[in-house]
Amino acid sequence: MQHDLIAVVDFGGQYAHLIAAKVRRQGVLAEIRQPEDPIEAYAGVKGVILSGSPALSSQDEDSGYEKRLFDLEQPILGFCFGHQEIAKYYGGSIVNGGKEWGHSDLHLTGEHPLFAGLGPVETVWMSHNDSVTGLGPGFRELGYTTGAHGATDHRYAAIGNDDLRRYGFQFHAEVDDTEHGDRMIANFVFEICGCRPTWDMDAFLAEEIERLKEQVGDRSVFLLASGGVDSTVAAALLGEALGPERVNLLHVDNGLMRKDESRQVLDLFRELGLDEHLHFVDANATFLDALAGVTDPERKRAIIGETFVRVFEDKARELGVEDHLLGQGTIYPDTIETGGTKRADVIKTHHNRVPVIEEMIAAGRVVEPLKELYKVEVRELGEKLGIPHAALWRHPFPGPGLGVRLLCSDGRPDDHHFDQIRAKLPEVAARFGVQAVVLPIRSVGVKADLRAYEHPALITGDVDDATAGAVVKAICAEVPHVNRCVWNLGGGHPASVAPVPGFMSRDRLDTLREADALVMRGLERHGLYDEVWQCPTVLVPLAWEGRAGEMVVLRPVRSQRAMTAAPVTLPAGLVAELRESILDLPGVGSLTLDLTSKPPGTIEWE
Ligand code: XMP
Repeated sequence: MQHDLIAVVDFGGQYAHLIAAKVRRQGVLAEIRQPEDPIEAYAGVKGVILSGSPALSSQDEDSGYEKRLFDLEQPILGFCFGHQEIAKYYGGSIVNGGKEWGHSDLHLTGEHPLFAGLGPVETVWMSHNDSVTGLGPGFRELGYTTGAHGATDHRYAAIGNDDLRRYGFQFHAEVDDTEHGDRMIANFVFEICGCRPTWDMDAFLAEEIERLKEQVGDRSVFLLASGGVDSTVAAALLGEALGPERVNLLHVDNGLMRKDESRQVLDLFRELGLDEHLHFVDANATFLDALAGVTDPERKRAIIGETFVRVFEDKARELGVEDHLLGQGTIYPDTIETGGTKRADVIKTHHNRVPVIEEMIAAGRVVEPLKELYKVEVRELGEKLGIPHAALWRHPFPGPGLGVRLLCSDGRPDDHHFDQIRAKLPEVAARFGVQAVVLPIRSVGVKADLRAYEHPALITGDVDDATAGAVVKAICAEVPHVNRCVWNLGGGHPASVAPVPGFMSRDRLDTLREADALVMRGLERHGLYDEVWQCPTVLVPLAWEGRAGEMVVLRPVRSQRAMTAAPVTLPAGLVAELRESILDLPGVGSLTLDLTSKPPGTIEWE
């Protein structure tokens, strides 16, 4: 079936995918287009939405996108930057000013199909530096906004020209904070563009099965099964389309998995009936050998990637899969160029770039059954394919696994900036009545969009959650070379903390695995697993003065897409349980909670 299609022009990474996902939720297929795509890329679309952007329309920062877009007969709706570009193209004026952040009241100037079913005043969400200050011929103001205090009027918050079918919203209809943004998007898609809602997961499933049968013919498929959501759903979909006998799966235990994880992954594929050709490599020893004595985080990451490639290549050769198609769990955002380079992609690149695989890609022998879908759609599809809920809703887990959560040290203190830190840290801590000590090790963070490899501060104090948050904020902002704060969850406060030698060893990994399993079980027991987005447990080779054993850090965060993250404080009951059980583990001497937001901390420590 031919589905109606909306094209979403991606002017700035974050927003475009959200818009496309919201259109799809209305049952209409939406695809991303890049600003420089030729006009032919819009053939057959029913409408176009222009996304927001970090660029300034007032400064003509439009990176020379394809302006012939405006020659299209189809309706176009712009959000924020897209709104300003529409106003500008058709003779309006834009200035750098009239900023609004957060919620505003949108006052509609009259009835319009874009706002059908909505009230005269709507709550919308704003985030802009530039504003439209005048309209070209044929355009009219559909709405204006008043700020949070109702003080200032902002004109032209919604504009339109019904003859040209060009519309613009200064606000972001795609974010949930715009209360009826979904309805506005639906109005555009159905009332203005005349789309039919035919695209849903049932339609996708039926069509994709046919497409896979055609592409694969009578051949077989070989797929890496990490146990992650994407590769699991891809495997199940291939099994559904081709029959399990033609789906070959390889699971590699790199020794950096969670407790019992490989067993669970293999059990899951058995449960799904995909075990006819289920292969397994226990590569624990290979990875540990490769990582022996290495402490630098980036070096560890590179070794993990390279070793994976080697193990995979050897096994692929041994299994003789050269005549198979290669299945991959690539999802839609992965196939689309986005603003930032995700580190996740680097890992996938490693896996995808082994010579044997490159040859397969060149020969058109790669199948990617999820390449049209967003994560939430992959999960919906997974439900339809009978994959258990728990497997579909697992917390994200980094490609290098526990490798980035087991910090390593040769035992020498890393204390280059301690004079500067010590000159400031006690004063900031004293202001809040807490104690603080800088830790002689570094972790990765992000400050002003740049990687910051700096020191954590350890804080001890009995304060409420709001004060704890304020302490962390003040320390990270005011103390130089500190990018992260951990809160002491145990008793006492160390006068000093020293590094202890600790490398990638099976013992340390086992300790971390145990601690991680206790945390995961604790979150589940307290009904917090779904609420917390991700909760890395980190083992740091630091010992408190007078105490044996290393430091465990809990890192629970809330996040949307990992670009930013907020720390989560855990309920006292759970903290008490974890204190008892984790401090009881051999090799553990202290327990802390990382309360840093991202930025300046990253979610992972490395
Ligand atoms: P950070 O630590 O940068 O992490 O805040 C953001 C998200 O990405 C995950 N992550 C990785 N995933 N390979 C991956 O596949 C990696 O090397 C990697 N590093 C971080 C991290 O778990 C979080 O969800």
